[in-house]
Amino acid sequence: MVNILVIGSGGREHALSWKLSQSSKIETVFTAPGNGGTENNVPINVDDLDGLADFAQKNNCFTVVGPEDPLAAGIVDKFNQRNLKVFGPSKLAAQLESSKIWAKDFMKRNNIPSAEFEIFDDAKKAQDYVKSLDYNVVVKADGLAAGKGVIVCNSDDEAISAIQTILVKKTFGDAGNRIIIEERIDGIEASYIALSDGETAIPMATSQDHKRIFDNDKGPNTGGMGAYSPTPIIDDVLAKKIQEKIIDKTIQSMKNEGIIFKGFLYAGIMLRNNEPYVLEYNVRMGDPECQPITMRMDFDLYDYFVASVDGTLSSMPQTTWKNQSAVCVVLASDGYPESYAKNEEISGFDSVPNYAYIFHAGTQKVDGKILSNGGRVLGVTALGDSLESAIKNAYLASEKITWPHKYCRKDIGQKGLDYL
Ligand code: AMP
Ligand code: GLY
Repeated sequence: MVNILVIGSGGREHALSWKLSQSSKIETVFTAPGNGGTENNVPINVDDLDGLADFAQKNNCFTVVGPEDPLAAGIVDKFNQRNLKVFGPSKLAAQLESSKIWAKDFMKRNNIPSAEFEIFDDAKKAQDYVKSLDYNVVVKADGLAAGKGVIVCNSDDEAISAIQTILVKKTFGDAGNRIIIEERIDGIEASYIALSDGETAIPMATSQDHKRIFDNDKGPNTGGMGAYSPTPIIDDVLAKKIQEKIIDKTIQSMKNEGIIFKGFLYAGIMLRNNEPYVLEYNVRMGDPECQPITMRMDFDLYDYFVASVDGTLSSMPQTTWKNQSAVCVVLASDGYPESYAKNEEISGFDSVPNYAYIFHAGTQKVDGKILSNGGRVLGVTALGDSLESAIKNAYLASEKITWPHKYCRKDIGQKGLDYL
């Protein structure tokens, strides 16, 4: 039997480890470096590509890469060179996420719907461009900035100050050497994630994230404060449109350009007048979306990872999903996404009802105690027979968990209810 090595330490990786450990084909699931909730943690960091490859080789592991950084650094290419089985996109394919400029140019030349844009490395030219437009813009750093290098602007003044922040003050470092200024599209946002082998892309269940820190989508962007699945915002007709116009088109266009995309392809979608536009690509599962999505899976995820690596997804049976809703409420450290306290003891795990599962993110286990260790600490994920009941269940379970500086949004899923 084979072992699994899941790389990463967030809620997404806990959810993937949890799901994969249910496969009868798997002996042990290791997580590197993991967190206070994952089992069989291996103390190797996600940027130690050789260390991870050595571990996978020694322990006969099939490796699953959670976060974007090691993908952008070429972990899949390295594992492939060493003949190690690994699920995820190559470094070239990961450019869809690691360079927003590369992704925008790719979408433009392949007619994939996305906002109008221009690229700048000169602040004066960028400002003149903003002033010449009669619509609001979004200013984005080209490179990876942990989800924070995007500034949505409400006026020319805000755009000019965003240009200063990214291009002149270099708040996001070299990720901001070049910027994109794009048209702000106002509409409804949802996440569409598919799993591909470079030829076929099979959709995962739909979901919606809540990126802002405060209720009613107020305050700065975060990595995601909660998610639910499925979302009524993407009905079957729209799902088909997104699948054909965006996902399949992306996979085929990549192939035409000589890049085989294997792994999760995540399109951050904005719907304007029911037409989907790509705001961004991610080349991995979303977090927190991964938590409600994996909870609804009624199939062996490992089989699909193997089929992605082997290029045999077209012969796999259809995926089946629990006919229930799942809601994940992220419990964060008060102060996130700025500064926050760490090392606070978390209690209440024993009183969580069995319709919920607590995925760990920023936690560590010390002397048998669970301590907070990051901004997003836990993802309380619950099933329910309707979106309404799943929301209720997730919040009932969340109340059982306590620590001094716990913070969560109180309106996760509400956007879905409002839409129904
Ligand atoms: P990104 O990391 O590119 O997805 O951007 C982060 C967030 O900024 C998105 O989830 C949206 O909420 C917002 N955003 C990005 N691009 C646009 C756009 N063109 N129009 C409106 N909002 C956007
Ligand atoms: N939840 C959004 C992301 O994973 O980037």
